Amino acid sequence: MKFRTLDTANVTGKRVLLRADLNVPVHDGKITDTTRLERLTPTIRELAEKGAKVIVVSHFDRPKGKVVPALSLRPISAALRDILARDVFFADDCVGPVAEEAVARLEPGQILVLENTRFHPGEEKNDPAMAKQLAKLADIYVNDAFSTAHRAHASTEGVAKYLPSLAGRLMQRELEALTAALDHPERPVAAIVGGAKVSSKLELLGNLVGKVDVLVIGGAMANTFLAAEGISVGKSLQEAEMHATARDILARAKSGGCEILLPVDAVTATEFRANPPTRTVKITDVPADAMILDVGPETVALLIARIASLKTLVWNGPLGAFETPPFDTATVALAKAVAAATDAGKLRSVAGGGDTVAALRQAGVVDHMSYVSTAGGAFLEWLEGKLLPGIQALQALEGVIFPA
Ligand code: 3PG
Ligand code: MG
Repeated sequence: MKFRTLDTANVTGKRVLLRADLNVPVHDGKITDTTRLERLTPTIRELAEKGAKVIVVSHFDRPKGKVVPALSLRPISAALRDILARDVFFADDCVGPVAEEAVARLEPGQILVLENTRFHPGEEKNDPAMAKQLAKLADIYVNDAFSTAHRAHASTEGVAKYLPSLAGRLMQRELEALTAALDHPERPVAAIVGGAKVSSKLELLGNLVGKVDVLVIGGAMANTFLAAEGISVGKSLQEAEMHATARDILARAKSGGCEILLPVDAVTATEFRANPPTRTVKITDVPADAMILDVGPETVALLIARIASLKTLVWNGPLGAFETPPFDTATVALAKAVAAATDAGKLRSVAGGGDTVAALRQAGVVDHMSYVSTAGGAFLEWLEGKLLPGIQALQALEGVIFPA
């Protein structure tokens, strides 16, 4: 994959439209996780230090084309200012006179955040008129929002048609880490896929089966595979209508030489709540009145032993109902083993997806993975093998933009 980076442009004195993902989680008016803002700072600093006029543009949440004051980016731009420890200006609109005047006032090295792009219906419609209005604000477009690259919107895709376009440092790191893990990985390469439903990760499983040497299936979606194989899963969550699909995936894995690892034991309970009485059983002995809520210790031991022989691991989705104790036990134990192998330089580990990152954080190992993506939906679509429109739009032309 070829794309231009910040190394290929002279941005000094130029107006740079930086597509960021300021869509941070907010609860009761407070930002609960600033990771996306922190990961953005290298690009912003570099642009500002090189004397660019930095114009940050982003969506926030889903206002559906209307101005929703509660979904203003103003408080998030203040958080960004605190993290950067620099002045950050704010404009109450992302296009039109308000934005244009704010940009006209910018000096080289200064930073401006524009209001939520999704306040305009043209954003999600990828309306060329909106894309042109955005392009009018700048000389260069830099996309640093891998996590929103699965959306073909005016600020992620359309605008790239009207400006010289390049990848920011965060986008560059994401693409480098993800392609190293799945497009040309050091083998053996394994994927761990967890989560609730086969149906929501069907394309992802189908793609991975053709790419990885080992596919570990955990979470409730493992129940569907087990049930499809005729194993009784009691009252566990599973999708009966996906049995044929699950068998098809197993057959394709077999013929393609991808080893699938399903749980060999399980932690079960008859009620789903924090700390209920549990029973750990062989996978063939799940009681009829019980639910599988985590993989068991034997499975964890097998997986940990298996990690020792791997060179690359991609992880999406927890092994159990990790938000409810003690059903985070297997995920946490495996995460710690992955972190240790990574720290020892034996494993390249790449993880992504909202739940996965939350689980890794719970295990205290986010900083001990080779790479943790800031993306949720975009990471999933990338695992599905899809071309992301925001990245396709960056596929670039040769040469330096604005040579000195
Ligand atoms: C995300 O958080 O997944 C991205 O910011 C994209 O947001 P969206 O799912 O509302 O398009
Ligand atoms: Mg999303």
